[in-house]
Amino acid sequence: MSSIDYAEKIPNNVNLQNDRTLQRALEHWQPRFLQWWHEMGPTDFESANVYLRTAISVDAQGWAHYGALKMPDYRWGIFLADPVADRKIGFGDQMGQPVWQQVPGEYRSTLRRLIVTQGDTEPASVEQQRMLGHTCPSIYDLRNLFQINVEEGRHLWAMVYLLHAYFGRDGREEAEELLARHSGDQNKPRILTTFNEPMLDWLSLFCFTYFTDRDGKYQLKSFAESAFDPLSRTCRFMLTEEAHHMFVGETGISRVVKRTLEVMKELGTDDPARIRAHGAIDLPTLQKYLNFWCSSSLDLFGSEISSNSASNFASGMKGRPDETTYDDHVLRDKTMKLGTPEGEQEVPMLNALNEVMRESYLKDCEIGLKRWNRMIERAGHDLRLTLPSSRFRRSIGPWAGVPVDTHGKMIDRAEYERRLEDWIPNERDRAFVASLMKKVVEPGKMAGWIAPPERGINNLAIEHEYVGLH
Ligand SMILES: [Fe+2]
Ligand SMILES: [Fe+2]
Repeated sequence: MSSIDYAEKIPNNVNLQNDRTLQRALEHWQPRFLQWWHEMGPTDFESANVYLRTAISVDAQGWAHYGALKMPDYRWGIFLADPVADRKIGFGDQMGQPVWQQVPGEYRSTLRRLIVTQGDTEPASVEQQRMLGHTCPSIYDLRNLFQINVEEGRHLWAMVYLLHAYFGRDGREEAEELLARHSGDQNKPRILTTFNEPMLDWLSLFCFTYFTDRDGKYQLKSFAESAFDPLSRTCRFMLTEEAHHMFVGETGISRVVKRTLEVMKELGTDDPARIRAHGAIDLPTLQKYLNFWCSSSLDLFGSEISSNSASNFASGMKGRPDETTYDDHVLRDKTMKLGTPEGEQEVPMLNALNEVMRESYLKDCEIGLKRWNRMIERAGHDLRLTLPSSRFRRSIGPWAGVPVDTHGKMIDRAEYERRLEDWIPNERDRAFVASLMKKVVEPGKMAGWIAPPERGINNLAIEHEYVGLH
């Protein structure tokens, strides 16, 4: 069931060879994808031999193959998790009925929009990260960046497969558009704001993979619950790859904290200026980067009060992450209290599901914070890293544009404007972090602002030549 046919142009476990029309349509899209990769993917590393993992099956025991290859030769394929026999809809008004193998007409445009919006984030992040190879802190990190990039490319394939296979001509047109929009493009930007933010340094990459890829995890988890079975199966397998992206974020920030603490100990100071002069990232600067990427990612869950979230759930299109862990799967009689700038409001639970998702996401975000704070505490320092309030710097929902400090307290607008540069990276912070970004590619060597990882990839040594540049 789940083996991949590598003789095919497009590796897949969806019996593509039995659907010639679909196969031809995707083979027509493939060179466009490769052209996009060439133009918008990582710059200047097309001839490098990168030690990459490639998905070769959906078998939990051994789904990936590891080996050195050139990125344009990566086998981007289409893999769906094995079907669950007699799977039933697990939530909403149609709970208990069989899941859909085709798209019901009345949900067609909404489902297409949901898939396009998810699909758009995948190539967007590759575009955002395309310059980072030139300033990698080590070739271990360089490899991880490229691993994430090729897998986001595969996630694009996953969504394009659904569009081609289930949405006819509209779907094919959307697949073209996914390659036509570009991150940060004035005329044709990516759909979501976070995916148009420039990413010029590795501290941003680690925060992005910690916060924004984790939003991806939560979106995929909610789609894994979907009554549209092909979407559910696609997203279940994507989650397997997504875990590594968040690993890069969490361990990346851990290594920054570790190195900073070493420098603080060596110098016997917590003075940011002296830490910076020594080439490490002071913790208050790290806090600003956390504030920036966390608040930006919180908008991705949508408005606190949303009729779309209600209808997506009631219809069965999009569940809550880990839906089975809840007691009530219909939610017609429940309400939720939400804080808004006008005071507390009681809204139907169905309309508050974006907030439910945002809250469980924030709990997941706390795990890394606890780990980093333990490191700081053990080193004998009082400072603690924190997540900003979910009301801070929002541009969607009732808190959009409301002047709020990082603790969620409403403040005077002038004070907000004045203090914002103390809460998120200002020009000087960004210039300082940029000044640290020097390419280090000698195997096993690390840039001075980051500690080595605890172990290498796939049981290889940290000194392994993960990217062959010659
Ligand atoms: Fe992804
Ligand atoms: Fe990802």
